[in-house]
Amino acid sequence: MPPRLAELSFASTAEQATEGVDLTGTTWVITGINSGLGKETTRVMSLRGARIIGLARTLEKASSALADLKIDGFPVACDLADLTTVHAAVDTILALDTPIHGVLANAGVMAIQNLEQVHGYERQFFTNHVGHHALIAGLLPALSDRARVVMTSSGAHTMAAPEGIEFDNLSGERDYHPWRMYGQSKLANILFARSLAKRFEGTKKTANALHPGVIQTNLGRHVPNAEAMYAKMKKIEKTIAQGAATQCTVATHPELAKVSGQYFSDCRPKGPSKIARDDALAAQLWARTESIIQELKR
Ligand SMILES: NC(=O)c1ccc[n+]([C@@H]2O[C@H](COP(=O)([O-])OP(=O)(O)OC[C@H]3O[C@@H](n4cnc5c(N)ncnc54)[C@H](OP(=O)(O)O)[C@@H]3O)[C@@H](O)[C@H]2O)c1
Repeated sequence: MPPRLAELSFASTAEQATEGVDLTGTTWVITGINSGLGKETTRVMSLRGARIIGLARTLEKASSALADLKIDGFPVACDLADLTTVHAAVDTILALDTPIHGVLANAGVMAIQNLEQVHGYERQFFTNHVGHHALIAGLLPALSDRARVVMTSSGAHTMAAPEGIEFDNLSGERDYHPWRMYGQSKLANILFARSLAKRFEGTKKTANALHPGVIQTNLGRHVPNAEAMYAKMKKIEKTIAQGAATQCTVATHPELAKVSGQYFSDCRPKGPSKIARDDALAAQLWARTESIIQELKR
């Protein structure tokens, strides 16, 4: 058995949080496996016996990450900013005809400095939220009875605009701010988990979201003077091993088998912002995202 939830903390590593967890015979989909928290999460989930379906922007990145980690997993190309590749990844995974015991929606991009659009939508919203929504919605038929869906959000969800999701500015053209848009995308991850948890009611499946902490990874690549930003946050910085702990905990901890629709930080439940608990907003976002996905399929 892993340590009790109450024994886990800021400093716990993913290995410590999953000590004694046996994932033998289970299959997990993880996004963003070639870098940072996703790579460490892949390593630790595999260490505990999970079979990994590892997603990265390209097949080469996914394959070489698994090879680096010496994991005999199944690499899949999935560029979350390109729905054609997301739908292809879904088809590839469904064709394996294997139950999926969980999805760790970990990939993300942060603070792109100038407005970039994909399919006419602001890139961070599209990559971090719409791409993951399309991926997970596509995989729902393959989820096992007790599957766990884990959305890697961020404490930066509080940087979203006061109304939460800027439905009249999803293109980013009305006005663009790198952090506000990142915040919006991470708020969307929490609202998505809430909506999915509602859809899972009456089943044993769960959906949750989390803040992994502050960790120096490639995520800072778009931030001018990222070194200075991290230097200011030195006191609250985690290692990558610690940064992967919360998502591995939410994915595997036995005490969380029935916990759904929640937000976590430092391996424990935590209240997100008020707007991140707004079920009407979550429902509105779900409907709008579905219509974006449908519109782009045509
Ligand atoms: N590090 C932190 O302090 C921190 C704090 C709060 C939340 N988070 C969240 O934690 C998650 C992991 O971040 P990290 O720190 O590990 O960052 P990272 O090292 O930059 O890893 C991000 C991963 O996402 C992938 N990715 C980016 N755009 C993608 C796309 N269009 N399609 C598919 N994959 C894409 C990256 O692939 P490429 O290498 O190909 O770009 C990479 O594998 C993110 O969701 C982030 O928002 C991190």
